[in-house]
Amino acid sequence: MKSAPRAFTLGVMALYLNGGKLEELSFFRSLLREAARQGIEAYVFTPEDVADDKRRIYAHVYDESRGGWRRRWMPFPDVVFDRCRYQNTPRFRKLREFRARYGDLLYVNRPLANKSAIHTLLSKDKEIRPHLPETVMYRGVKELADFVRKHGIAFVKPINGTGGRGVVRIERDGSGRYIVRGRDKRRRIIPKRRVGLESAGRLLERLGLNENCLLQQGIELTLPNGRVHDYRLLMQKTGDGRWDATGCAGRVGAARSVTSNLHGGGKAVSVDRLLKHTFPKGSQAETVKADMIALGHRVVERLESHFRDMCELALDLAVDRAGRVWLLEINPKPAREVFRRIGEAETYRRAIARPVEYARWLYEKEK
Ligand SMILES: Nc1ncnc2c1ncn2[C@@H]1O[C@H](COP(=O)(O)OP(=O)(O)O)[C@@H](O)[C@H]1O
Ligand SMILES: [Mg+2]
Repeated sequence: MKSAPRAFTLGVMALYLNGGKLEELSFFRSLLREAARQGIEAYVFTPEDVADDKRRIYAHVYDESRGGWRRRWMPFPDVVFDRCRYQNTPRFRKLREFRARYGDLLYVNRPLANKSAIHTLLSKDKEIRPHLPETVMYRGVKELADFVRKHGIAFVKPINGTGGRGVVRIERDGSGRYIVRGRDKRRRIIPKRRVGLESAGRLLERLGLNENCLLQQGIELTLPNGRVHDYRLLMQKTGDGRWDATGCAGRVGAARSVTSNLHGGGKAVSVDRLLKHTFPKGSQAETVKADMIALGHRVVERLESHFRDMCELALDLAVDRAGRVWLLEINPKPAREVFRRIGEAETYRRAIARPVEYARWLYEKEK
């Protein structure tokens, strides 16, 4: 007879925003509920909540009976689910210190490298390489002009950007001027400009996009209605430690936006509907979907072999008019909201349950 699994404590690691609030509280509540349903004690904490004696944590727990978050002293977690997104702040340094100091805890995920380093790593894989838009570090307008000439469209974006902040699209119009549009680093839409090459360079500089940015081949993703679109594929480990594609969703950008991110006003749509819409004929939609999932598996395996075990990753995928799948970006701390928005309640539920199931599997394996 199989003995009952030993109980363990799951710590969801977050960072305070300025003002001491936590992000993602509704996701955390769902996660803690799911853990409770699986008989696992779970709480949310930040590296700032560790007691001076380094033995306890002043955790955030959800009180179901009274409905609301409470603080409670808890022992250190056995397994940590890290939800902290990269930020260039002292707070993030505390997170690094926590991971370094408590390296003997089990972590279900880990920080990846910046977008440039990820690109370099993935481009070494000959199955992944054909899916990568040409990408270099942005150094100035000369290369920008080369990229636009070669690819028709170029993107400039920060190597540590998230949520569509500081993403700019550059192409040429019929008269040889450069059309520049996108989002500034606070995600506000930059109105379309037609400028000469040098002015385009100065504009990027004013936007703070002259340093630590990628220059990337742009993929034409504009739908007949003028909006851009792409796909979000969520890859997760299951409760027996295997990778699976939990779900995929389409995203359609806001009007006048070159990005599709939901936080920038993008709309979530069903993957099948969006693929059918772009590939109405025959079985091409099915082929594209299979290609996306195969790429997802290849990418997680490749990254895992370099960064060690992880529990989930989301891929931002573009599909061009010929049906070729392009990998735009890897998200190590993916949101799963997109599945709720498209009404896929079961996918959403699974997307929350899986990290908890995997945490249990990892704990059982390691103890
Ligand atoms: N090379 C590209 N070609 C076409 N669209 C792109 C490209 N790079 C980014 N985008 C658009 O901008 C969005 C945000 O870019 P992404 O690289 O995912 O950065 P972020 O981390 O800010 O989400 C993408 O989801 C896509 O809509
Ligand atoms: Mg993205």
